[in-house]
Amino acid sequence: MKKVVIGIGLAVAAMSQVYAADMLALAKSKNCLACHSVDKKLVGPAYVDVAAKYAGKPGAEATLVNAVLHGVSGVWGPVPMPANPQVTPAQAKELVTWILSLKK
Ligand code: HEC
Repeated sequence: MKKVVIGIGLAVAAMSQVYAADMLALAKSKNCLACHSVDKKLVGPAYVDVAAKYAGKPGAEATLVNAVLHGVSGVWGPVPMPANPQVTPAQAKELVTWILSLKK
């Protein structure tokens, strides 16, 4: 019984890390991390830089969900992002919400 109580306490404390790990796993399974990392520019921009660029911009989420689903070019440099048909609109929204929550 004591173990259960401690377990619940730990689970609550660990929830934000679990969310981050889940989203990282989703990004990895959808191949996003082939071109992106959270804090380093690879082929595409670092996700913390995406969050900084769009912080406080109205409509950022819709713009980025659209970019993830259908691809985008000319925003960050000469290399375009191809469309990601392996991602559902709901997953794209989840990923974008997570990306926008990241801080440097
Ligand atoms: C083949 C490489 C590649 C893959 C795979 C890829 N991206 Fe990108 N991504 C890019 C590049 C390159 C850019 C910059 C495009 C530009 O300059 O317009 C970019 C831009 C972005 C942006 C910013 C868009 C904007 O309008 O500012 C987001 C958000 C993003 N990617 C998320 C994702 C997510 C989520 C996935 C996985 C579902 C993913 N990317 C998969 C290469 C990739």
